[in-house]
Amino acid sequence: KDVYQIAVVHGDGIGPEVCAAAVEVVKAALGPGCPLRFTEYPAGAEHFLKTGQSFPQPTFEACRAADAILHGAGGLPGVVYPDGTEAGLDFTLRLRFELDLYANIRPIRLFEGVTSPLAGVKAGDIDYVILRENSEGLYAARGAGALLRGEVAVDTLVQTRAGIERIVRKAFELARQSSGAPRDGVRRVTCCDKANVLRSYAFFRSVFDEVAKDYPDIATEHALIDAMAMHLVLKPGHFNVIVSENMFGDILSDLAAATVGGMGMAPSAEVGDANGFFQAAHGSAPDIAGKGIANPYGTILSAAAMLDWLGRGHGDERLPRAAEQIRRVTEACLANGLLSADLKGKSSTAEITGNVCDRLAA
Ligand code: IPM
Ligand code: MN
Repeated sequence: KDVYQIAVVHGDGIGPEVCAAAVEVVKAALGPGCPLRFTEYPAGAEHFLKTGQSFPQPTFEACRAADAILHGAGGLPGVVYPDGTEAGLDFTLRLRFELDLYANIRPIRLFEGVTSPLAGVKAGDIDYVILRENSEGLYAARGAGALLRGEVAVDTLVQTRAGIERIVRKAFELARQSSGAPRDGVRRVTCCDKANVLRSYAFFRSVFDEVAKDYPDIATEHALIDAMAMHLVLKPGHFNVIVSENMFGDILSDLAAATVGGMGMAPSAEVGDANGFFQAAHGSAPDIAGKGIANPYGTILSAAAMLDWLGRGHGDERLPRAAEQIRRVTEACLANGLLSADLKGKSSTAEITGNVCDRLAA
């Protein structure tokens, strides 16, 4: 491909700041012949306040047609529908469902230079991937829940055999492709559920066990979600690839991010068979928006994942090469103390972005 069309949605709060940073970094990594064309489209809470629409149809069409989608962050507290749910989340949630972005890949890695709140862990000790099912589970109830007579609220958790099977296969493939570090020489997929209490999770586990038979080279284990929350604090070095239902994956993502420096260090890739959507796992952080101090690393690393995905899909080696450079330079910047306020540093978003770009150009 000569040109890749990237649909860019800045979104709300710090979204525009971190998104612009990531675009700058990608352009620097690919140089003057950069084959990516970035086009901005509106969506989010602020757009909803202005126009009454959180996710305009033309933005949806552009996202569907694009080769990849890059997002800053969406949502603002108080910008809600009459039922109390946030309007600004439509962009992210509708893309997931309507483009069938079933795999949400969230690498959790402790970088040199970043301090973990966990005692005694150093760079490299934490390096695993949370694979969050992104198209069903409890989130499938978004917009479809019921409130009965103002007294009883119901949301339904949906898990299908096909949905579980494809996310579990993806987990094993990620383990084979050496996502995350092998532990004690073992590549391992951990199935995280609540099979002891709920039928839907028992089903998830049983489909996991069936699919696992096709991957005899990968070790497997089960962990209950509550115990998992503890394990991610007490023995994060044990894990390689963790697969779970949508809502559990959402919750574990934030816990895991906290162990490697916080939400600012949590990249994410949401992919289906046809489309890819890239944004950090964090929210729009309106409290620090516009101050120029937001941590851009999560979005920069998400953009690197976008280049990997595009390159793999199109057999274009330039893109993963650029992604690798972005990761190397990011690592060097962090190790050199280029830290934003959330990482207890003093560097601004612009300073970090400028440094990353300079090193890429060098
Ligand atoms: C995430 C976010 C989203 C979610 C929000 C923004 C809809 O928290 O990507 O983890 O709940 O999935
Ligand atoms: Mn989340």
